[in-house]
Amino acid sequence: MTYTQPALPYDENALEPAISAQTVHYHYGKHEKAYIENLNRLIRGTEYEDLELEDVIKMAKGPLFNNASQAWNHIFYFFTFSPDGGGEPGGELRKAIDRDFGSFDVFKKAFVDAGVGLFGSGWVWLSRDNEGRLFITQGPNAANPLTEGLTPLLTFDVWEHAYYLDYQNLRAKALEALWNIVDWKVVEGRYQ
Ligand SMILES: [Fe+2]
Repeated sequence: MTYTQPALPYDENALEPAISAQTVHYHYGKHEKAYIENLNRLIRGTEYEDLELEDVIKMAKGPLFNNASQAWNHIFYFFTFSPDGGGEPGGELRKAIDRDFGSFDVFKKAFVDAGVGLFGSGWVWLSRDNEGRLFITQGPNAANPLTEGLTPLLTFDVWEHAYYLDYQNLRAKALEALWNIVDWKVVEGRYQ
């Protein structure tokens, strides 16, 4: 199959000031486009070419894993955000956050700290296991919790390409700003 890049459900400038139109243009329009093109080129003729992308991520190694995971991660990341986002989660997800982290504020600090503490490029994740327990993980490059048997709920991209145009070296400030655009209804839906 040929993987395609879905159009974002908002305009390039819709996430400002948290993420500029220029960053959305380059990050989703150029970087993500390249990952999907590389994925399609690398997977052709392999045993993986008819699999769902999640299964490719779980099974592939090397450049194919890197491009498959980066392709998936960026769609997951950008489709978490909304110009109407922000606020706080509710429902079962909120109960789980309070149970597993103590409070929403403690969770937010731990999540940003994990992203800031990651040396080099990578991703910080909130995921759940089969029992509904929550975990914050971080990993380099194209890391994805699907490879650890977890279900991803939320991710922040901590590659410099995600924030350097808008925040230069201030990764913590860039990550903090994302709380203003997280659509918690999307994240709650992933938790169910
Ligand atoms: Fe990225």
